[in-house]
Amino acid sequence: MDKFVIEGGRQLQGSIQVNGAKNAALPMMAAALLLEQGDRLILRNVPNLVDIRTMGILLGKLGVRVTRSKDVVTLLVTDDKPVIAPYEIVKKMRASICVLGPLVGRRRAAKVSQPGGCVIGVRPVDLHIRGLADLGADISMKRGYLEADGKNLKGRTVYLGGAYGPSVTGTQNVLMAAVLAEGTSLIECAACEPEVQALAEMLNEMGAKIEGIGSPRLIIHGVKQLHGADVSVIPDRIEAATFMAAAAVTEVHVRIEKCRPDHMIAPLESFRSAGIHTEQGEDWIEVQSEGDFKPVDITTLPYPGFPTDFQAQFMAVMSVGKGISVITEKIYPDRFMHVPELSRMGANIRKEGTCAIIAGVEQLVGAEVMASDLRASAGLVVAGMAAEGFTEIHRVYHIDRGYENLEQRLCGLGARVSRVVEKKENALIREAM
Ligand code: EPZ
Repeated sequence: MDKFVIEGGRQLQGSIQVNGAKNAALPMMAAALLLEQGDRLILRNVPNLVDIRTMGILLGKLGVRVTRSKDVVTLLVTDDKPVIAPYEIVKKMRASICVLGPLVGRRRAAKVSQPGGCVIGVRPVDLHIRGLADLGADISMKRGYLEADGKNLKGRTVYLGGAYGPSVTGTQNVLMAAVLAEGTSLIECAACEPEVQALAEMLNEMGAKIEGIGSPRLIIHGVKQLHGADVSVIPDRIEAATFMAAAAVTEVHVRIEKCRPDHMIAPLESFRSAGIHTEQGEDWIEVQSEGDFKPVDITTLPYPGFPTDFQAQFMAVMSVGKGISVITEKIYPDRFMHVPELSRMGANIRKEGTCAIIAGVEQLVGAEVMASDLRASAGLVVAGMAAEGFTEIHRVYHIDRGYENLEQRLCGLGARVSRVVEKKENALIREAM
């Protein structure tokens, strides 16, 4: 298990490029299951990440040959019969659930291992099931597997609002089933995240007829068949925001390139409210920070609200702000695993239900901390860059799931982040303690 060692307090300078979005690429890859045997889908700007490789392995089991050349991933349907997404793969990556909708839509059957919860919360899939059932699929749970029969799929109205708002992958699943269902479907309370929009736009490129893209009401006129396409994955808005956070705490002038500021309205506004100077163009953002910023209260919400996937990183920024800020988590009420780790670095944070109250401190201090999930780890990297001295972040495999070569790219800006391969015995001793 690798760890990061970060020497904090370094001033950054220069430019950094944002990669394609993992959370957009995963459902786009799954959409290959909607194609006819022999059809090909080409995706460009695909990040080279563990989760992308896991989706490639899963699709391989489902008759799709996945190959990569640099950032281009080609998906060729070699067999349109398999419908089983096995537990061994789904347990590694929850986003595997994205194959459910296209399997039901095109192959009219699916047997997908039900994903479990994870450290950020319980993460049910009731909305996915309800949405597909509303389209006429017959779904049941058998021995940990969701089994679906899609013979009677038909265009209908589906409401996807849940206790915590709409579901991103739930919307994507229902959308992918609806594009090949006879008649017109209406998804009300659809998730509006850029990753949902990107999928819908790609489906239209493949011959689907979807209207209302980007709105909470998607209208889908079912078509008989889709065809291959060649599209580019949108830039990762969370990666771009993470770079902004790293820049904000290190007193710098950094240019973030190949990003989509129009997908980042809420994070950009929060930085402005904190008094951090930013400028932006169509595909770039510049951050000029003197490391002196005001507290800002934020609440995570479905898009275009403040993204839950950027909550931990923003909390790291607020930990060294001048005053008290309140962060309220409305998507995953338990997504606060980073709080005790930030506290070990000297942050002053009190958790009250679904809120964290952060009293900014003058200086964080490097410490040994543990990564618990992807975004919590990114928050610890930001904190490590702000801290005095050395921070060791253990279990960085979480970071590798969502950020490609993060340490090398941050070093390109003048940061000191190194990866150390931890000896297995030491890792085990820490776990036992
Ligand atoms: C997507 O997960 C992202 N994953 C997550 O990114 C992100 O945190 C999340 O959306 C919210 O933005 C991918 O795109 C692969 P949801 P998803 O269904 O679709 C509840 C990261 O770090 N809910 O929109 O699984 C759910 O518990 C990750 O990259 C139900 O109640 O999230 C949560 O409270 C982690 N029933 C809320 O809705 C359901 O059937 C939103 O979850 C489904 C979800």
